[in-house]
Amino acid sequence: MKLSNKTLMPRRGKTWLGQMFFSIMSHSLYDVGLYRFVTPYIWRCPTSRLMDNYVENISAHHLEIGVGSGYFLKRTMCADFVKRLVLADMNLNCLRKSAKRLRMSTPRICHHNILQPFSPLPLERAKFSSVAMNYVLHCIPGTLSGNQHVFQHVHDLLREGGVFFGATLIQQPVHQGIASWLFMKLLNAVGIFQNGQHTSAELQQALASRFRKVEISMVGNAAVFRAVK
Ligand SMILES: C[S@@+](CC[C@H](N)C(=O)[O-])C[C@H]1O[C@@H](n2cnc3c(N)ncnc32)[C@H](O)[C@@H]1O
Repeated sequence: MKLSNKTLMPRRGKTWLGQMFFSIMSHSLYDVGLYRFVTPYIWRCPTSRLMDNYVENISAHHLEIGVGSGYFLKRTMCADFVKRLVLADMNLNCLRKSAKRLRMSTPRICHHNILQPFSPLPLERAKFSSVAMNYVLHCIPGTLSGNQHVFQHVHDLLREGGVFFGATLIQQPVHQGIASWLFMKLLNAVGIFQNGQHTSAELQQALASRFRKVEISMVGNAAVFRAVK
């Protein structure tokens, strides 16, 4: 079957708008804007904190869900170290560009919507030692507790002792930062973010009900998480 973005992307609505945004953004511009400016100054989370999460948890058998431009993998994954790298995303443009950027690690790509189970897709049978989902959960429609199946899909793909890690943005009260509050409202209004109802307590609950060890640190608006199966 020949895949196109239309295969997985809804034709209209907020999710479609969000996906259009990821497609049309120039990836180098996206990286500079998001990680040199928006993350440290609007979300008040140093980009180095997100980078450390990768350095500490990435393994040689890694699945990246919602790869975007591949920014963190490019900086933290050494081609000699990686044995198996799979990039999954519902946006084909992101998959093509990140796979090209990470070609030294010979990634396999998987055109997939995380709201659906991975099982019918051609992922290898062997489970992964690490799965990352960085800055993805806040783009997915619905509440975190209403999307429990997403956490279950990740759990199913990890071997015992494997680590699920990443970060997601959570709306904070207006008094904790007017700029982040306004920016979050705007991104939700246009459909790039869909996290209006998300809380760190919900994230904790969704992870703790499946994983045996869960760590979540709130750094500005970012809930930086790590969960061990
Ligand atoms: C904000 S970008 C984050 C990219 C990267 N992980 C990072 O930290 O820079 C969100 C990514 O998740 C993907 N995405 C959003 N919703 C998705 C879904 N339901 N299934 C799979 N990928 C999704 C988007 O296409 C985009 O590549």
